[in-house]
Amino acid sequence: MPNIVVLISGSGSNLQAIIDACKAQQIDATISGVISNKADAYGLTRAEEAGIANQVLSHKDYATRESYDLALIDAIEAYNPDLIVLAGFMRILTPAFVDNFSGKLLNIHPSLLPKYQGLHTHQRAIDAGDEEHGVSVHFVTEELDGGPVILQAKVPIFPEDNADDLAMRVHEQEHRIYPLVVKWFCQGRLKMVENLAYLDDQPLPESGYANE
Ligand code: GAR
Repeated sequence: MPNIVVLISGSGSNLQAIIDACKAQQIDATISGVISNKADAYGLTRAEEAGIANQVLSHKDYATRESYDLALIDAIEAYNPDLIVLAGFMRILTPAFVDNFSGKLLNIHPSLLPKYQGLHTHQRAIDAGDEEHGVSVHFVTEELDGGPVILQAKVPIFPEDNADDLAMRVHEQEHRIYPLVVKWFCQGRLKMVENLAYLDDQPLPESGYANE
């Protein structure tokens, strides 16, 4: 059975969605470890409650981004995972890290990539007057929030929305699409070849699997 490591920095609601999907056997995989760069991440409690090995690897204990990422590689490799799931892991990754796990790294980003890479995506979508917003699951490459999109989900933006309203609406979609993509990966249906995502050997378009 495929073996997954999940990286988090915060609440871990996406981690929870993946734990639940594994428990319900919607995903045929084992989450062998959860690693957080923050000691107070609530996701660690979620892992503990699910009986999953969990640990804190604080970036504050390392002088450089490079040295932290090398330690993180070692911590991850101790679990010998088939897949590494970034679930609200709020770190910029070094090329050495990304190369080491190329094709085995998934991330979820709260925007319709390539729009709004980086932070504060919900506020930026509101400020731009967008009528729709959403979330993307993508393979991780060296370009920040730039790897090939696998699946997106869209939500409307209503005139009275603030960033919290919108974040909540996006979160609901996150919890639907991330377990689905993890499932595809664990079934061996999903691959990245030369910066292109393939599902069942078909290259996926720029916005991922048909999302209309
Ligand atoms: C999610 O909204 C995820 O899309 C975002 O962090 C949140 C984590 O929530 N990720 C990023 O912004 C990555 N650039 P969670 O801890 O409840 O899963």
